Amino acid sequence: MPTLPLPVTPPRRILMGPGPSDIPPRVLAALGAPTVGHLDPYFLQIMDETQTMLRQLFRTQNQLTLAVSGTGSAGMETCVVNLIEPGDRMLVCINGVFGTRMADVAGRAQAQVTTIERPFGEVFTPDEVAQAVKRTSPKVVGIVHAETSTGARQPLEEISKIVHDDGGLLLVDCVTSLAGLPVEIDAWQVDAAYSGTQKCLSCPPGLAPVTFSARGLDVIQTRKSKIQSWYLDMKLVANYWSDKSRAYHHTAPINMNYALHEALRIVHEEGLEARFERHRRNHLALRAGLESLGVEFAVAEPYRLPMLNAVKIPAGVDDKVVRAQLLNEFGIEIGGGLGPMAGKTWRIGLMGETSSRRNVLLFLAALEACLQSQGAKVDAGAGVAAANAAYA
Ligand SMILES: Cc1ncc(COP(=O)(O)O)c(C=O)c1O
Repeated sequence: MPTLPLPVTPPRRILMGPGPSDIPPRVLAALGAPTVGHLDPYFLQIMDETQTMLRQLFRTQNQLTLAVSGTGSAGMETCVVNLIEPGDRMLVCINGVFGTRMADVAGRAQAQVTTIERPFGEVFTPDEVAQAVKRTSPKVVGIVHAETSTGARQPLEEISKIVHDDGGLLLVDCVTSLAGLPVEIDAWQVDAAYSGTQKCLSCPPGLAPVTFSARGLDVIQTRKSKIQSWYLDMKLVANYWSDKSRAYHHTAPINMNYALHEALRIVHEEGLEARFERHRRNHLALRAGLESLGVEFAVAEPYRLPMLNAVKIPAGVDDKVVRAQLLNEFGIEIGGGLGPMAGKTWRIGLMGETSSRRNVLLFLAALEACLQSQGAKVDAGAGVAAANAAYA
């Protein structure tokens, strides 16, 4: 008998990268609860409660609000393939990796894709979007609310009006913003949005909350061609989530749904406003600490994400060596830059459970040690002191 691999014993990390974030023990415990059947009355109740809590989180009355089986990218594909028919025009706003991915997904769904671009780290002005909408009159405009690859927050309200005035639908990526920043699906009149579980929801990766407006739903119901993906077909999936039909579609990942249910309970126990404020406070304290260590932000202040801090790697400091030291000596994971930001930025996540005073102070002390190892001149204790002062 060959030797068996060892059992799974992952190291304990502090997840301060671009996701996944730290998972509260209550959510991990929910994952380990007894599995029931996907049509068990107990599970159907979990589904109903999950939908209600998701609507509260998305701040929407949208009937079609549920958790797609799959990670955030499955949410992206779900929104695109359900709204797009071959030949439909779609405008995608690209200012980072995830806008690029959305354009790719739209092209595969046979949309006629037009893109507009901003350099990584910047956001779109309403005027830029207005000009592109005027030029192309798209059926769907796709945009990323919180670009995890760059740390930039895209304001959406004016853009929504521009899209709707032209008769289009607004599709928004809320993977990183949901549960860390206000996401106002109804107030901003977003027609389709998707998220992921592993960012500010602090649940393991595996589900993608999505929501479609009444207009979005109407477009799905009246489309002429079949939805390109059987697995992500909202007409079919919605029949399973609907308390009227409960038609079998695929076997739901039962335990992942338990975990999301518990993560949502934690979010609503804390309260949305309190949660947003916690993310903001910890971001500001981290920022004070980083600045006192001579580390600058890569994004202009009004557009910085509180849950994903993209900072410039100081000159002469080795990106990979510092990240390895943080991981090996302190158990802290942070992210490197993506795309054109690779080697130039670090992405420091303060998402969901990870966003705490303890982690901000720990990280600043650890980073100080790493910068000193690199020969950088930093005042001992300056980062922690500045962060503490920001909390005072
Ligand atoms: C903004 C954004 N969109 C989409 C995704 C894709 O999600 P996933 O990696 O869970 O498939 C991510 C993941 O980091 C993201 O940050």
